[in-house]
Amino acid sequence: MPEKAKRGFASDNNAGIHPEVLKAILEANTGHVIGYGDDIYTEEAMHIIKEHFGQDIDVYFVFNGTGANVLGMKAVTESYNSIICAETSHINVDECGAPEKFTGCKLLPVPTENGKITVEQIKYHMHGIDFEHHSQPKVISTTQATELGTVYSLNEIMEITQFAHENNMLVHMDGARLSNAVVSLNTNFKEITNDAGIDILSFGLTKNGGMNSEAVTFFNKELSENFKYYRKQGMQLASKMRFMAVQFTTLLRNELWLKNARHANQMAQILAEKVADIPQVTITQKVEANGVFAIIPKEIISRLQEKFFFYIWNEDRSEVRWMTSFDTTEEDIDEFIDQLKSLL
Ligand SMILES: Cc1ncc(COP(=O)(O)O)c(C=O)c1O
Repeated sequence: MPEKAKRGFASDNNAGIHPEVLKAILEANTGHVIGYGDDIYTEEAMHIIKEHFGQDIDVYFVFNGTGANVLGMKAVTESYNSIICAETSHINVDECGAPEKFTGCKLLPVPTENGKITVEQIKYHMHGIDFEHHSQPKVISTTQATELGTVYSLNEIMEITQFAHENNMLVHMDGARLSNAVVSLNTNFKEITNDAGIDILSFGLTKNGGMNSEAVTFFNKELSENFKYYRKQGMQLASKMRFMAVQFTTLLRNELWLKNARHANQMAQILAEKVADIPQVTITQKVEANGVFAIIPKEIISRLQEKFFFYIWNEDRSEVRWMTSFDTTEEDIDEFIDQLKSLL
């Protein structure tokens, strides 16, 4: 039996499964149901997802966030297209080139200080339209909340969707932390996605307390016409779909998603407030979701990591990333702060 794992600040993916989700998986584990999604659990999950995002949508469960991003964009592009995204986006830096490999598209990264992209920056890539020597921009990919723990406002999103649609493009949103963004903006899922003009959403609840709860969500059903084939060819069609479905139902029913995201965000606020008092620590990004980015003295990083693992974000700048999750406690933060102070 491995030693009982301690909680750290490395990633919201390092947290376990919320006990209610695990219980729901166990409860669904009786008898036989038809595989591949033709079952009452999946039907119930679709029902509740539509209550949150709108009725006229198409939703497909996949195993992971990379799969959701890649297949969602694959469904709406040709290999001669390009995808405009933030330089820091998961699709650009953390998916091992899968978006390029499976869509064939060129990624056009936009430099960003805070993880967000703007229409002005997107315009930089808007050239060579209809010119056969250039890849043709088709998708703008945003991440909400961003990889840097910041959140796009509703206006910022709508400026991008409006620009995209005026220019015959589509907007994808990587919503691996959408629930954290919803809490941060004090809004709801539908308002910042469907109503804001997002076309394709990678909706993730894994970081919110799920086990593998990711869904490609199309707000324009014409775009999903052939998606079921892409999902199967892309090896992301689950046979035992019911166990993914109950994760969505459990998190989205009775506002468990909200409780979890609110808690994770609050813990990030508390962590940020406490480190802000330490002169050797400089917070580098606005803390708007469940991540804290900070520059700390280089020489203490590895010793601090021994007790509470976390990732270095930018080695040159000695910038680190601390993520909180639904199960982070104030005691974890206090212990971490004590350890940090003792090393300084
Ligand atoms: C912004 C973002 N998108 C997507 C993902 C999902 O990736 P995975 O394929 O590991 O589930 C992550 C996970 O860390 C992420 O941070």
